[in-house]
Amino acid sequence: MVMKVLVLGGGGREHALIWKIAKSTQVSQVYSVPGNAGIGQMAGVECYQVDVGKNFAGLIEFSKKKKIDLTVVGPEAPLVNGMVDAFEAAGLHILGPTQSAAKIEGSKVWAKELMERYAIPTAPFKVFDSVASAMTYLTEQNRFPIVVKADGLTGGKGAIVCGNLMEATTAVVQMMVDKEWGDAGNRVVIEDYLDGEEASFIVLTDGVNVVPLASSQDHKAIYEGGPNTGGMGAYSPAPVVTPEMHERIMREIIKPTITAMVDEGRLYRGVLYAGLMITADGPKVLEYNCRCGDPETQPIMVRLESDIVPALLACIDGTLDQVNLKWNDKAAVCVVMASGGYPGQYEKGKVITGLDAVGTMEDVVVFHSGTALDTQGQFVTAGGRVLGVTALGEDIRRAQLRAYQAVDLIKFEDEYHRTDIAWRAINR
Ligand code: AMP
Ligand code: GLY
Repeated sequence: MVMKVLVLGGGGREHALIWKIAKSTQVSQVYSVPGNAGIGQMAGVECYQVDVGKNFAGLIEFSKKKKIDLTVVGPEAPLVNGMVDAFEAAGLHILGPTQSAAKIEGSKVWAKELMERYAIPTAPFKVFDSVASAMTYLTEQNRFPIVVKADGLTGGKGAIVCGNLMEATTAVVQMMVDKEWGDAGNRVVIEDYLDGEEASFIVLTDGVNVVPLASSQDHKAIYEGGPNTGGMGAYSPAPVVTPEMHERIMREIIKPTITAMVDEGRLYRGVLYAGLMITADGPKVLEYNCRCGDPETQPIMVRLESDIVPALLACIDGTLDQVNLKWNDKAAVCVVMASGGYPGQYEKGKVITGLDAVGTMEDVVVFHSGTALDTQGQFVTAGGRVLGVTALGEDIRRAQLRAYQAVDLIKFEDEYHRTDIAWRAINR
């Protein structure tokens, strides 16, 4: 079968997915909505601006007109808002959880209560729907650090590790009073701080069978100890996920979660991402996401040797037990180049140079996030995270060196990147 695939989203994650999907022998054409300037330059890929429309009607119309055989959704919001339900009702093939299953990311309160019901390891927590009760709890506990989380979607910015009562108060006010993330802050979760090393454990599932992707680790903070962003870099594999730990994560977290979703009548199909803390006491869930990680997907796709498309189709068909993914033994490191000021205010429209030089480097792939073309056809910045520079190497150290060699060649005004991506893996 020769298929047309639509990928929704326009970040580095989507560029990496499209890069991999476009290599499939089963795919003749990829459509990207809305995409970005980097995606738009790929052979066999077309970007479109489509008005999503009420209940995704605009996207459904687009998919029918283009005769799309498979739709892959990058970001969480459309999934949490029922895009899969709408596409399936229209008779279209789409990969991802239904709205009721995507609640695992859409509501942190619901996800925490699910873990509690099914004894899936996570930090002890309490839920609050008023500032007064949250403040009483924080004062009584008087135990720091502690973590305050908004219930709903916040673009990865709604979990705040608070070092003292003042910081915790600020976090609660920001969420519940100032409504920084709107209704997402109507309720908050306050949970115990977990000590350990983080890992992103992402799997494909057809609702019953599970195929894990390679392990990875991202760097959420803008600099070590600084505020969280969407992610400033990532690497794969994550050495903290040893073969024994991998087995424990599957047994104690992933499989119980998939089974729990069946028991809840919310069969979970698509990508499930468990954000984990590997503690002295074993792996614990920090959060679930209902989609691929960004930037984690960038090093992961670069390491994936198998065709991804049969695996995606098997998630929909319920035949994932017949899928086996092969991974490159090399390590991959992705360094995000961002606009100065991100995750706060930043300027756009800065001309990006050096991409051609990096384009000739072996074992380096540059995925675009916030980029656009100006009237002269030059790449310019158009978002907070601009590029993900991803390199393969014999080990993490060599992959890191290679990635930074490429980063050094790329320039734009006020460019910012972390200089320490993968330090934890290298220090081990
Ligand atoms: P989340 O959005 O829930 O994954 O949280 C974002 C980040 O906050 C995580 O990647 C961790 O770095 C940190 N974090 C969240 N929950 C905890 C916790 N219970 N203990 C320590 N750090 C946490
Ligand atoms: N890199 C974190 C996330 O995608 O949620």
